[in-house]
Amino acid sequence: MKGNRTLTIIKPDAVSKNVAGAILKQIQEAGFKIIAMKQTKMSPAQAGKFYFIHRERPFYGVLCDFMSSGEIVPAILEKENAVEDFRKLIGATNPANAEAGTIRKLYAESIDKNAIHGSDSDENAIIEGSFFFSELERS
Ligand code: CMP
Repeated sequence: MKGNRTLTIIKPDAVSKNVAGAILKQIQEAGFKIIAMKQTKMSPAQAGKFYFIHRERPFYGVLCDFMSSGEIVPAILEKENAVEDFRKLIGATNPANAEAGTIRKLYAESIDKNAIHGSDSDENAIIEGSFFFSELERS
């Protein structure tokens, strides 16, 4: 059975441009319910832990620096088929390849500053949700 939750992060580029509200409106209008949400900032070490899965990739250092450079808005979202449907809503990782109307096409600047994150599997959605939110906040 497909999971019904995903974890998103509105990234520092989008928060600093004051478009978090517009992005959340688009997410809600697409049928996602916000289960938990906060505005926070990660240290470089916390970003390194969150993106540990990418530690061997050449972009890991740039990614951790960027994700700890400013305020972010992580949120747990709920909807049937959440992971797959959310990845369609946000569009391709590189905004140059994202379809018209997707969140990354509308708000992302580049593959590094790409406005928003979405979990890539049900398993990672659970791990990532637990990274940002307590058991109480997740229930
Ligand atoms: P996201 O999927 O949210 O998490 C990993 C991030 O690494 C990804 O968004 C991109 O912003 C960034 N990144 C930079 N270069 C690449 C690349 N070549 N392939 C995938 N992700 C990349």
